[in-house]
Amino acid sequence: MNAEIPNLTAFDEASLERAFAALTDEARQAASTIENEAGVEQFRLEWLGRKQGRLNEVSGKWLKAAPVEAKKALGQRFNELKKTVEGLLESAAGAGPSDAALAAEAIDITLPGTQRLLGAEHPITKTLNEIVSVFASIGFSVGVGPEVETDFYNFESMNFPPGHPARDTQDTLVIANQERRTQRDRLLLRTHTSPVQMRTMELQPPPVRIVIPGKVHRNDAADATHSPIFHQVEGLCVDENITFSDLKGTLDYAMKAFFGSSVKTRFFPSFFPFTEPSADVQISCIFCGGKGCRKCKDSGWIELLGCGMVDPAVFAFAAEKQPAYDAKKISGFAFGMGVERIAMMKYGISEIGQFYSGDMRFLKQFV
Ligand code: DAH
Repeated sequence: MNAEIPNLTAFDEASLERAFAALTDEARQAASTIENEAGVEQFRLEWLGRKQGRLNEVSGKWLKAAPVEAKKALGQRFNELKKTVEGLLESAAGAGPSDAALAAEAIDITLPGTQRLLGAEHPITKTLNEIVSVFASIGFSVGVGPEVETDFYNFESMNFPPGHPARDTQDTLVIANQERRTQRDRLLLRTHTSPVQMRTMELQPPPVRIVIPGKVHRNDAADATHSPIFHQVEGLCVDENITFSDLKGTLDYAMKAFFGSSVKTRFFPSFFPFTEPSADVQISCIFCGGKGCRKCKDSGWIELLGCGMVDPAVFAFAAEKQPAYDAKKISGFAFGMGVERIAMMKYGISEIGQFYSGDMRFLKQFV
């Protein structure tokens, strides 16, 4: 707090000079310690307040007590002091927080910020979505099914009868302690996405056009091109008068859309229990254009997927729930492809394990 204003006893020039200089100093001193808005307001009240301000006090004590001949000089000095104080107030109000207050709140903008990494699609997800969207663009809808599947859907309804040797081609991981169940109800990890064909047909009568992406499991040893968990995209089309030409045209279109319009396809006889006839589809080598190279083992062709016309035995299982699947009236085709295999081809990856390693240096290449 400021000291009380003393009474003035002498009114000569020199005394007035001293008295006002002391007050001006005092005001400057007070203004220099202002830290914030509250300080500005306090300064204003203390010096310029109408009732208790120091200037009001000066005017009361000094101006009124002055002899007539000193009043003019005193008045001038008083006005100067008032201007000075008002100036101090103005610059304190405009100056904002003091240096000390600023330093306490300061941030170092040269420090590195907290980086938030943006997520991106995994190359398998990306490839899977690309395959699905090619088929979606020609009228296929998208379906899914469970990864823990029954023996019935995974095998029996797909025309792999119990004990049939075709089951051995898909080394199966089974759920433990299922002995009390009948064979068809026993649970296993699905070895392919084909069981979703049956699940789809049981729920809807023909026509059906669907692609089914998903994860599958096999008790395979991992090597450069095999993994016990991998992904497939299944396809199923059922309607009246669906022919092998529809199958060929659809897959040829899809391969061209996916790999480029110069790609050719060819179909080789094959065997799958759930299709008859069955075929393996090869595409002309995307690395050498069909001339022959290391990637296609100099053949010019690369094997990519399996397909065929839906076996009437499969329709017979579907007809148990949906009688419209009468093999005398409808027909259909199906296909299935491995997503990892296609992604490896497309991106030139030689080790399947890279997809699952979580190595950011590998994954960042696909962002
Ligand atoms: N499910 C077969 C496998 O995993 C792939 C396959 C082949 C699916 C031919 C089909 C098909 O729908 O018609 O080996």
